[in-house]
Amino acid sequence: EKGGWPSFMAKEISEEPEAVANTVLGRTRDGQVVIPELEGLDDLFRGISRIVIVGAGTAAYSAFVGKYAIEQWARIPVEVELAHEFRYRSPLVGPDVLVVSISQSGETMDTLMAVKEATRLGAKTLSICNTQGATIPRESDAVVYLHAGPEVAVASTKAFVAQITGLYLFALHLGRVRGTVPAEVQAESIDELNTLPEKIRWILENEQEHIEQLAHWMADTRSVLFLGRHVGYPIALEGALKLKEISYIHAEGFAAGELKHGPIALVEPGLPVFVVVPSPSGAPELHSKVVSNIQEIRARGARVIAIAEAGDAAVLPFADEVLRIPLAEPLFEPILAVVPLHIFAMGLANAKGLDVDQPRNLAKSVTVE
Ligand code: M6R
Repeated sequence: EKGGWPSFMAKEISEEPEAVANTVLGRTRDGQVVIPELEGLDDLFRGISRIVIVGAGTAAYSAFVGKYAIEQWARIPVEVELAHEFRYRSPLVGPDVLVVSISQSGETMDTLMAVKEATRLGAKTLSICNTQGATIPRESDAVVYLHAGPEVAVASTKAFVAQITGLYLFALHLGRVRGTVPAEVQAESIDELNTLPEKIRWILENEQEHIEQLAHWMADTRSVLFLGRHVGYPIALEGALKLKEISYIHAEGFAAGELKHGPIALVEPGLPVFVVVPSPSGAPELHSKVVSNIQEIRARGARVIAIAEAGDAAVLPFADEVLRIPLAEPLFEPILAVVPLHIFAMGLANAKGLDVDQPRNLAKSVTVE
């Protein structure tokens, strides 16, 4: 039930802090990540040479974020592929590959078919799933459940932050087993994961009204771009997808570095562009690159809405609006940066008087190929 909230989406965004906290709960021991469901699989994890993550829509974007963490911590190559593309291209996977599927519902047919194909080819399969006992986990060799709680709104929000959290826990578990993550990195990462819920709460308490007001002013907007780099890139894709899904506004997400290879031609005076800005202290190189991207689009008249760390003053001269997020290590920033984008998409759909929970043409779980 909505419990007093105007929509399930509003309720589920408000539950993003708990979605992260509950997913981490019970998965750490003595300063290390230990996922109890994966104990006993150490030999498998030491033996694999590659990981392929499959999923669709928002779940696939969480996988793109997860790739950075798994490669950084577990030092193993990761490919991310849309499940429906993987299934029909005769993929090169075998017993040395772990195919990880990610799905909120656990019933997405495209993802299920990819898992079955991976099994047929001799790969081991791991399901990261939010729904207990669903088909995909039942068809997989191993499963890590997310604990975001049931998600009702068609647009996925709290499941997305839980999916990234689950992938990060998996990356740290794998890194521990493979001996690639020093104990202090395990401990620091666990601290980061544990402080994320209160940081998300900070955004909800301090920025939600501002973002909803901004969405209200932008109710007549026809097109919006989203830019990001590194882990901010899949967040830009997620921001664009959410806006398309529930507000029916044309939206595109790009890697900021790709701008001058084409998309900058779209920029005209007044075009709103959301930019996910990396931390100036945590990722100074990326930060300065993104600030120059902002200058490039600003010079062409874009209306820049920056999602930036509290205290980042470098964006102020160039941004029309700044949506603040608390400080976090760069790898953990996506879990914070996506929150304003979820709020914005909901705010805009509300401003247009649309049904945010049941957008046209879409189903909560896509059980046909
Ligand atoms: O249940 P799943 O996570 O497998 O669903 C995958 C996509 O269909 C889903 O994320 C979809 O893109 C959402 N409506 C996005 O908000």
